[in-house]
Parts: sequence; structure tokens; C-alpha cells
Amino acid sequence: MEIITRLRGIKDILPDEIEKWKKIEQTFIEISELFGFKEIRIPIIENKFIFVKGIGTNTDIVMKEMYEFKDKKGREIALRPEGTASVVRAFIENKMYMKQKITKLYYYGPMFRYDRPQKGRYRQFYQFGVEIFGGKSPYFDAELINLLNIAFDKLGIREIIFLLNSLGCENCKDNYIKKIKGHLESNINKFCNDCKVRIEKNPLRIFDCKNISCKKTVEKLPSIIDFLCNECKEHFEKFIKLIEKFGIEYKIDPKLVRGIDYYTRTVFEVNFKNDEIAIAGGGRYDNLVRDMSGPDIPAVGFAVGIDRIVPLICDDKMIKNDVVFLVLLGENARKKSFEIMKNLIENKIKFETDYEDRSLSEYLRVVNKTGIRWCMILGDNEIEKGVVILKDMQTGKQELIENNEIVNKIKERIKC
Ligand code: HAM
Repeated sequence: MEIITRLRGIKDILPDEIEKWKKIEQTFIEISELFGFKEIRIPIIENKFIFVKGIGTNTDIVMKEMYEFKDKKGREIALRPEGTASVVRAFIENKMYMKQKITKLYYYGPMFRYDRPQKGRYRQFYQFGVEIFGGKSPYFDAELINLLNIAFDKLGIREIIFLLNSLGCENCKDNYIKKIKGHLESNINKFCNDCKVRIEKNPLRIFDCKNISCKKTVEKLPSIIDFLCNECKEHFEKFIKLIEKFGIEYKIDPKLVRGIDYYTRTVFEVNFKNDEIAIAGGGRYDNLVRDMSGPDIPAVGFAVGIDRIVPLICDDKMIKNDVVFLVLLGENARKKSFEIMKNLIENKIKFETDYEDRSLSEYLRVVNKTGIRWCMILGDNEIEKGVVILKDMQTGKQELIENNEIVNKIKERIKC
């Protein structure tokens, strides 16, 4: 019988990788909570029009990439392609703005986009995102860059660059579009078919196109930053000054428009220097809450692509420092192990073992493959003397421990 495989562009996250995933998730959660963000859990399926309205009708995400279906009652449903529109829906629907002036939320989970699968691009992928509602000040925008920088640093990811830009307010965007429309129309034949439609319906989207001829043609366009009104200009300049204060490596990229329509003013992406892949993206969306029929409340946020970060975490940092492998040499040791396990469980010490009849050297090879640092060796000799051997697989050092000292000694070692 033919094996039924997973869907294209969708992958399993296997136990070998899971520690890296958890480390990334926990780092972002911990740092966001220190910055005062609270968790929100939004649904995976929503009314499709949340995204059509939020992300924009003429974006690739809505036009080409949404997983849509009708439920049994004919309602139009979509699997969420991102979190922001859903969080805004929840913010308005639950009148969260009534509680406090500033609301800071974070979320984590799978997103779905029917994109062409390739390296780092999946149809189900995971985002950690944060959104701040109620703050206009560029300090909020800078706070997010600071948070990202701290988290990446803590994860040991340093080969990154922050790309920054401002799209201005609706007026700035309109002025800019008016300015470039003539140039775009007179060069229309240099653009791909998709961009020809974009020029008519949503000209800023042409900056996202990967087609070489389109890229070359937009290179000649003036920078959107030169069309910012005084207020937007001041907002952007303050934001940049703050980033400089943090000493964060950044580049202003006037062609950065992002693939989503809700942005106003600040937009940013974090790229991995080596292959220009975006590992995070975000920006300010001061009109979205109002446009989704809520009050006029400004907002700013970002989302990190966890799938793209996992390969950047070094394997050598993933030594399991807090787990003990029980090496059970012989039948007596296997019998005795339940007593030891009970003791470890009561003291919340993680352990692994298997019950195979192996020699010590075979066992140690098995332990080496697991990445577990601590190894507790128990054989007939040790049982007779009322001791166990604790071996540090990293340094090779081993020590004899009396049975009644097992928990204390392991706790001490795990801490070191
Ligand atoms: P986005 O740039 O579409 O922004 O996605 C954010 C991050 O998700 C990307 O930088 C990338 O790392 C990851 N990502 C996107 N698509 C894929 C994919 N197909 N496979 C793997 N990873 C992917 C947003 O989604 C906005 N909601 C961010 C935001 C929050 N803006 C304001 N608040």
C-alpha cells in the first residue's frame, strides 16, 4: 500500500529539533513578559474577511496565499495567514481598549500561507508576534527593536541586520504614489504581468516583486522618505536616533514596503546577513483598528518566523544539561532503577533510560548520541556498596555518590 505522506510545504517538528524550538519560544516569551506583554491566544480559523480587510485585497497573501474554505453553513473561513489582523479583531471585539491606555499582547502559533515551498518558506509556519495598542510615540517602535535585539542576542544570533523605513501616513503614501505613477506607467512594459495589475490597483506592492526587470525599474524611483510630511519625518528621525542609542546595527532601506497593506510610518525587517532571509518583520499600523470598525487607536508590532530561526541555533548549545541518563548494567540494576526514578520524579529531575542488556561502553555510545550531559551508572558492584557513579559526559569526570545523596548531588551538578 502506498504511504500517505505529509502535505507539500508542511513539516513535522521531530524530537531531535524540539529543544531548539522550545528554547526560542521560551526566550521570546520570557523577554516579552519582562517588557510587560501579556499572552493572547487567538483562533486558527477566522472569518476570511478579517484578513481581506486587515491585510488588503490586493496583496499576495490575500489574492494567492490564503487557505480558504466554506464551512457546512456556507460561511467563508480562512486559516490565519498571520496574527495581527486576528489580534486587532480580538482587541476590538473584547473592548480591550476600555481597560487601559496601552495594551501589550503577544501570541505564538502556526500560520498558513499557500506559498511556493522552498528553503525557509513553508505552508504551515510558526510565528511569535507582539502588538502594542494605544501608543503613537516612536519610543514604542524603538522598544520593539530593542526587544528583538535582546532576544536574538540571548539566542546567540548575531549575524543579523535591521532594515528600517517609514511609509508615512495615508497622505504621505498618496503623495508618493501620485509622484511615481507617471514613471511607472511610462515604463509599464518593463514590469511583469502581476506588477502591471499592482500599478493599477496598489502601486506600492511593486517594491515586493522579485522579478529582475521589475526590481531594476523600481531602483530608479525616488525614495518614499523624501515624501514624508513634517510629523512623519520627525517620527522617523526620532525612531532612528533611538536605534542609534541602542548601538544596534541597522540600514535604512527606502524600498522596504512589506507585503501587507495595513502599515503606516515605521516598517522594519530583520535579515540574516548571509542569505538576506527575513527572520522577523513588523511595523506601525495606526489606522487598522479604526479601519476594522474599532476606535481610532494607533498600534505597532512585529512577528518572528520561528522556522527560520531554528537552523541558526548552534547545536553545541543544545547539550541537555538538565537530564540524567540512567545506565543500568544488569538485571539487579534494572530492578533497582524504579526506586531511583521515583526519587528523581519527586524531585523534578528529568531522566532517560532504556532497559537493554548492554556493556558499559555500548551504553556510553548511546548516551553520547542523545546529547545528555549527566550519566548515572549502576551495576552490581554499586548496588552492593549503596552508591551510584555520576559521570559528566562533557568533561569525562566521574564521582561516587551515596544513595541518600543522589538527589542533592545531581541538583548541584545540574546548576553548574
Ligand atoms: P510577515 O513579514 O508577513 O509579517 O511575517 C513575519 C515573519 O514570518 C517573516 O519575517 C518570516 O520570518 C516569517 N514567515 C512569513 N512567511 C513565512 C513562510 N511562508 N514560511 C516561513 N516563515 C515565514 C507579518 O506576518 C505581520 N503580521 C507582522 C506584524 C506584526 N506586523 C505588525 N505586527
